Amino acid sequence: MSILLFGSRGFIGTHMQRRFPDAIASNIDIADSTAVAEEFDHIRPDIAINCVGKTGTPNVDWCEDHKEETFRSNVTGPLVLMEECRKRGIYWVHISSGCVYSGDNGGRGYSEDDAPNFQGSFYSRTKQWTDAMLNEFADPAEGKGGILMLRIRMPFQPENHPKNLLTKIAKFTKVIDVQNSVTYIPDFLDAVSTLIDRRRTGIFHMVNPGSISLYDVACRFANAEGRPHPERLPEYLAKSMTKAARSNCVLSTEKLSSEGICLPNAMKRMEEILERRARTSFVSAEK
Ligand SMILES: NC(=O)c1ccc[n+]([C@@H]2O[C@H](COP(=O)([O-])OP(=O)(O)OC[C@H]3O[C@@H](n4cnc5c(N)ncnc54)[C@H](OP(=O)(O)O)[C@@H]3O)[C@@H](O)[C@H]2O)c1
Repeated sequence: MSILLFGSRGFIGTHMQRRFPDAIASNIDIADSTAVAEEFDHIRPDIAINCVGKTGTPNVDWCEDHKEETFRSNVTGPLVLMEECRKRGIYWVHISSGCVYSGDNGGRGYSEDDAPNFQGSFYSRTKQWTDAMLNEFADPAEGKGGILMLRIRMPFQPENHPKNLLTKIAKFTKVIDVQNSVTYIPDFLDAVSTLIDRRRTGIFHMVNPGSISLYDVACRFANAEGRPHPERLPEYLAKSMTKAARSNCVLSTEKLSSEGICLPNAMKRMEEILERRARTSFVSAEK
C-alpha cells in the first residue's frame, strides 16, 4: 500500500510521517493542479493524506490579513486534490478542524451531522466551506476512492511544540474557563490507522471523549511546574482581545465509538502527561 503525504513538514504532517514511515512526502503546492496531476501520475499512490493547511502564525488572526494565501491552502488545494484523486479512484484523507462549532449543543456535543455554527474567523470559515464541498464527494466514485475527513481540535502531546495546546497555554497569563474538546495526538494517530484500514469515508470527529476547561488545565500545569496561576478570562473579554473570534466547542465522539474506536478520556490523558512531567522532574532533581 503506497501513501502520498502532503504537508509532511508541518505539525500534524510530521506526526503522520512518523506513523506511516514509508509514506512518500510531496512538497508541491497542492493548489497547482498541473503539479498535483503530475505527482499522482508519477507516484501512483493507493492513498493520499493531506496535512496541508494555513492555520496562521502565531495564530489564526494571521489568516484575517492573509485571506488569499489561506484560501489557496485550505480551499483551492483540497479541491484540486479532490478532483485529481476522484479521476484516478484514489482514496484520500483530509485533515480538517472541529473549530467550526460554538457551544456544547445542550451538553450532547456536536455530531458530524450538525451544521457548523461558528463563523467568527476566516480560518474557520475556510475549513467549513471545504468540508461541505468535499463531503458531497466523500463516497467512492464507481466503488473506488472516497474521502475521509478528520476534524481535530486543540491537539496536544507530551512533548513541547509551539502548536501543542499545553505549550501554548503555559505561556498565557489570562485563560478562558470554557469547556472544549481536545485531541491527544497519539490516540488520534491510532484511530486514523484503523479508519484508513477500513477505508472509511465522510466526516469523523477525532477528539478524546470528555471536555476540558483550558483554565482548569492551565492551573493544574502551573501547580505542577511551580508557576503562578493564570488569570481567569471572561469569554466576552477574550473576544475583544483578538482580531478573529475563537471557537470554543464540544464535539460528540459517538460516531467514532460506533466504529469500536473508544479513545481514553481527555482529562485522563492530560493527567498522564502531568504525572510523566512530575516523574521526569523528580528524576532530574535526584541527579
Ligand atoms: N494545529 C492545530 O492546532 C490544528 C487544529 C485543528 C486542525 N488543524 C488542521 O490540521 C492541518 C495541519 O495543520 P498543522 O497544524 O500541521 O499546520 P502547519 O504546521 O502549519 O503545517 C501545514 C503544512 O502545510 C504546508 N502548506 C501550506 N500551504 C501549502 C500549499 N498550498 N501546498 C503545499 N503545502 C502547503 C506548510 O508549508 P509552509 O510552512 O511552507 O507554508 C506546512 O508544512 C490543517 O488542515 C489544519 O487546519 C490543525
